[in-house]
Amino acid sequence: MSDAELKAKLKARLLAGIGAQIDSIDNAPGDLAALLQGVAFEAAPVGEAPEGAGAPGGGPDDLARMVNAYYDEAFYSRDGIMGLLLGETEFRNIGLWDETTSNQKEASERLFDALLAFLPEKSGRILDVACGMGASTRRLLRHFPAEAIDAINISQKQVETTRANAPGITAQVMNAVDLRFTDASFDNILCIEAAFHFETRRRFLEEALRVLKPGGRLVLSDVLFTSKERLSQYPTLPSAENHLATVQDYRALLEETGFREIDAQDARDRIWRPHFLHVVNKVHEAFLERRLNLVQLTEILWAYYNLDVLTGPCLLVCARK
Ligand SMILES: C[S@@+](CC[C@H](N)C(=O)[O-])C[C@H]1O[C@@H](n2cnc3c(N)ncnc32)[C@H](O)[C@@H]1O
Repeated sequence: MSDAELKAKLKARLLAGIGAQIDSIDNAPGDLAALLQGVAFEAAPVGEAPEGAGAPGGGPDDLARMVNAYYDEAFYSRDGIMGLLLGETEFRNIGLWDETTSNQKEASERLFDALLAFLPEKSGRILDVACGMGASTRRLLRHFPAEAIDAINISQKQVETTRANAPGITAQVMNAVDLRFTDASFDNILCIEAAFHFETRRRFLEEALRVLKPGGRLVLSDVLFTSKERLSQYPTLPSAENHLATVQDYRALLEETGFREIDAQDARDRIWRPHFLHVVNKVHEAFLERRLNLVQLTEILWAYYNLDVLTGPCLLVCARK
């Protein structure tokens, strides 16, 4: 059976099953209104490409525009999943979890701390690449003086938030694959959960190596995807050239670009899996408390089912120049 036929069968099966459930809601008057409370039928479904998403492969400016359109909206919104998950944290990553981790904020802090633990000496200058809203940059202030910290991000809006969140550091709008720093500027570089957006990881690693001092370290977390072809369906992701399938591929790329003493681990079971289960739990809690309606619940769950299929190894990496 072809993929198109399978998709058609899946849709028919699920829609028929869900349709039958919806029909039977008639038997308990009032339930439908309760389940649908606040549905904005005219709003774009969760998981749909943002307004203006063009055909894939539009070049670096298009990629930056799409990345910024997506994150500058999603990061600052408290609607849907963001409001349910984030609490007070301004980290925007899926985090690192263990049995004591009870929320997304703790998971993101744990991820940051695990990456910093790779650095034996927390001294000299450090660069926070793709700093997001500056939660990581702010936490760096626990280890480094403000004058020793630089942060970059591709979005002006997020750079401004970073300046407010981490006073005294230097934050600039800059693309990770085109670092406007002189050679051998930094003792360490941090990059949390962003390199899957870069056009390409190779260019970023070359740039990171160039701006690191000899002996300096790059620490990062990154997510690999399971399908090269499917990446082109996401306007916020770069070309298929950025695709890496395995930890071994990642290690080989680091070696080819000139890094040594490479520690690259797949921590999917401590990163994606617990984040996924946490989200599933949170959305059901919200549904039971009528903070999410049936349509929102269903759309978020399907977006997460899709992401689960696409999410491969989740890497924690430390490498040395
Ligand atoms: C999943 S978020 C992670 C943000 C932050 N590191 C954190 O952990 O909270 C990915 C970030 O990468 C940034 N980004 C994407 N492509 C970039 C690029 N080419 N150069 C710099 N930043 C980029 C986005 O703007 C976004 O802030």
